[in-house]
Amino acid sequence: MAQVLDLQGAPGPQASVGIGGPYYLPQGRERELFELAWRNRLPLLLKGPTGCGKTRLVAHMAYRLGLPLHTVACHDDLAAADLTGRWLLKGGETVWADGPLTRAVREGGICYLDEVVEARKDVTVILHPLTDDRRVLPLERTGELLKAPDSFMLVVSYNPGYQNILKSLKPSTRQRFLALELDFPRPDQEITIVAAESGLAAERVRPLVNLATRLRQLKGVDLEESVSTRLLVYAATLIRAGLPLEAALEAGIVEPLTDDADVKRGLRELVRASLG
Ligand SMILES: Nc1ncnc2c1ncn2[C@@H]1O[C@H](COP(=O)(O)OP(=O)(O)OP(=O)(O)O)[C@@H](O)[C@H]1O
Ligand SMILES: [Mg+2]
Repeated sequence: MAQVLDLQGAPGPQASVGIGGPYYLPQGRERELFELAWRNRLPLLLKGPTGCGKTRLVAHMAYRLGLPLHTVACHDDLAAADLTGRWLLKGGETVWADGPLTRAVREGGICYLDEVVEARKDVTVILHPLTDDRRVLPLERTGELLKAPDSFMLVVSYNPGYQNILKSLKPSTRQRFLALELDFPRPDQEITIVAAESGLAAERVRPLVNLATRLRQLKGVDLEESVSTRLLVYAATLIRAGLPLEAALEAGIVEPLTDDADVKRGLRELVRASLG
């Protein structure tokens, strides 16, 4: 089957989609659970903070399972037709153009809806017949009723940290999915990941991961979300490219985390204290 690798958010600066596909170091049994969900035709919901590996896991599993992947970043302007498709005018004729969800159903691939809580209720409702045992996608505009092949899988993700009461999934939607929570990897795993993604030697990555562990434990600092594995990869990439440590941490960690001058000061102190 043709590989349609959606690279949006997939490989880090140094990572390549080589023979093994997008690199993913498991935190636990998530690959097994993903594969079981797919084999049993069950949709999957991934939860976790920003930059913890959700998108990478999906890209990796699509590659491993040999499935085309269609990714959609959800937002509150997303219309149902953006997922299913629409009639387009082409040279005086109207032609139907499948949306990414429809394409994934027709191809029997994976449709990955990122930040699904951002989607409007009318969008999530079109997922319902696909995510219960009917596994069908009704296309009102063409009159088709597509039956999803066994290999089709719907994966959605969101970040519970940003969630507010107005933007949560309805129970009738969320209870259609198996769910898996990812967190930041354990320090030893994170060192391996950041070293692999940035090309920086593990012993030079270790202090960055130690710093991240301290930042994540920090309760007093006013951060919406703490430092992600993604930011560690960025900082390590700058260091590997030869930028002085302080400048790399400023651009790779302090500035991305906050706009608040006081919070930045606090972060810099912590950076200095833990990295010297
Ligand atoms: N387990 C992992 N194996 C390999 N790389 C990882 C892993 N976890 C995180 N990464 C690295 O962190 C980066 C960010 O991961 P990813 O884009 O998957 O985050 P995400 O959870 O989808 O975040 P967001 O919610 O912001 O979309 C990846 O590009 C990769 O470099
Ligand atoms: Mg993502």
